[in-house]
Amino acid sequence: MIDLHCHILPGIDDGPRTIEESLAIARVAVADGTTTIVATPHVSWRYPNDADTIDALCQELNERLLGGGIPIEVRAGAEIAMTRASEVDPEQLARMRLGDGPWLLLEPPFTPIVTGLDGVVADLQAQGHRVILAHPERCPAFHRDPDALEALVASGVLTSVTAGSLTGRFGAEVKRFALRMVEDDLVHNVASDAHDPQRRPPALASELQRAGLADLGEWLAKAVPAAILSGDPIPARPPIASNATGGGLRPKRWWRRG
Ligand SMILES: [Fe+2]
Repeated sequence: MIDLHCHILPGIDDGPRTIEESLAIARVAVADGTTTIVATPHVSWRYPNDADTIDALCQELNERLLGGGIPIEVRAGAEIAMTRASEVDPEQLARMRLGDGPWLLLEPPFTPIVTGLDGVVADLQAQGHRVILAHPERCPAFHRDPDALEALVASGVLTSVTAGSLTGRFGAEVKRFALRMVEDDLVHNVASDAHDPQRRPPALASELQRAGLADLGEWLAKAVPAAILSGDPIPARPPIASNATGGGLRPKRWWRRG
């Protein structure tokens, strides 16, 4: 499995404080079957990280992983806050893409109302970036206005859902929304968004199994992230079993009332 969203770099955001804690996260990920982690520290007003720091910490962590015999590779990336994206230097932004591909991981705000996200996305796309949205299922604004999420996907945006959302770690409403997104083909990737080894662990394969999505796991957590990291075309989603998300397939545009 390839984990596209993980706060594993030490001391630069709300993830691990030390490199020993980073190694502990890596060990848990290996035990869960993960072979590659993309380090995605926050790039925000609170954590104004830069590409030089991210690259240097990735190199240091990979050296420690190799030396410690922990069989996992860490690639460089970032989780760029929507409110920060337009302020980041273009050369820096290009270096913050996930792996060697064209995709930027963009974090929408957790506020009930979000304005300007479509404009930020369009601006990034006009600069040649492709946009993958971090955990939209955890954003109240999309619960209130699911059409906005569908419109973003129609504009070429991919979504990366947090694995724990599918198993209820973020509450019943987030779980319901996430599973219905799967049914409606609005989920393109599942990632851990891990911050530590236990409370927010790097669980991926095990969470997909618990969510009843093991059959889709290869596509969600291997084939799609591999294409994102390499810049290859995103492979088509395999058919989903009608009972995979517990409720059977729902009609398109399930959220519409009346
Ligand atoms: Fe994150």
